[in-house]
Amino acid sequence: MFIRSLLQASALLPFISTSAQTTTACNNSPSLCSRAYNNITHLGAHDSPFVRDKSTSFSTSGNQYYNSTVQLDAGVRLLSAQVHKNSSATGEDEWHLCHSTCDLLDMGSLTSWLKEIKTWMDADANKNEVVTVLIVNSDDATASDLGAQFASSGIDDYAYTPASTSVPKTWPTLESLISNGTRLMTFVASLKETSTQYPYLMDEFTYVFENDFENESPTNYMHA
Ligand SMILES: *[C@@H]1O[C@H](CO)[C@@H](O)[C@H](O)[C@H]1NC(C)=O
Ligand SMILES: *[C@@H]1O[C@H](CO)[C@@H](O)[C@H](O)[C@H]1NC(C)=O
Ligand SMILES: *[C@@H]1O[C@H](CO)[C@@H](O)[C@H](O)[C@H]1NC(C)=O
Ligand SMILES: *[C@@H]1O[C@H](CO)[C@@H](O)[C@H](O)[C@H]1NC(C)=O
Repeated sequence: MFIRSLLQASALLPFISTSAQTTTACNNSPSLCSRAYNNITHLGAHDSPFVRDKSTSFSTSGNQYYNSTVQLDAGVRLLSAQVHKNSSATGEDEWHLCHSTCDLLDMGSLTSWLKEIKTWMDADANKNEVVTVLIVNSDDATASDLGAQFASSGIDDYAYTPASTSVPKTWPTLESLISNGTRLMTFVASLKETSTQYPYLMDEFTYVFENDFENESPTNYMHA
């Protein structure tokens, strides 16, 4: 009896000591917490909201089989989208997620998509996740047009504002973005002018470069 319970106790020990170590994961990995935002590979979904499923009658203009929530659940941390003007809608609501043109595929307002992302970021299980949104600004929306939608979705509460409008030498680490409550990075291609009212809208090509579509070797990813 005694031996048996001793054996049980020692068999439990490894589990006890493992669970006593509290390890925090950032974007699904403890090793990413102390890494700078720009020293990480972020898995991205191109044209994230443009789905080819029952909801779009399996539109050939859809790039994704699963919506943005499912993509985030699967580990995607960068979501790109195109924003167009749907002139039959009015006011803030005219900025829609459309693929090439709104006649081809209109996935609704930018606000409703941002709300979907915010809902995911709000969940307790996702509080250590840094998400990047990359907007292709196809019809030259101004920073106020876009910012108004970020504000009405409420996702602006999470938005990171860069320290300056020039390229930083170092970006914050994931853990500092998380502890500051600024877990949303927002890039817009392109913004004609930045806005003091919405300083978190970062002009993509001020901060980011894009490599060629086809890369044949890892060195193709290096900035010239
Ligand atoms: C990127 O992260 C790796 C692993 O932590 C580290 O060795 C490297 O110095 C970092 N590079 C930069 C430029 O911060
Ligand atoms: C996303 O897709 C899943 C599964 O297909 C579905 O259950 C969910 O309601 C969708 N979410 C949104 C916000 O559309
Ligand atoms: C534009 O938006 C309106 C209102 O949301 C919608 O009914 C209409 O289908 C959209 N137009 C196109 C071409 O998608
Ligand atoms: C965190 O917030 C403080 C106070 O607003 C600011 O000084 C600091 O630069 C922020 N850090 C990051 C990583 O954004």
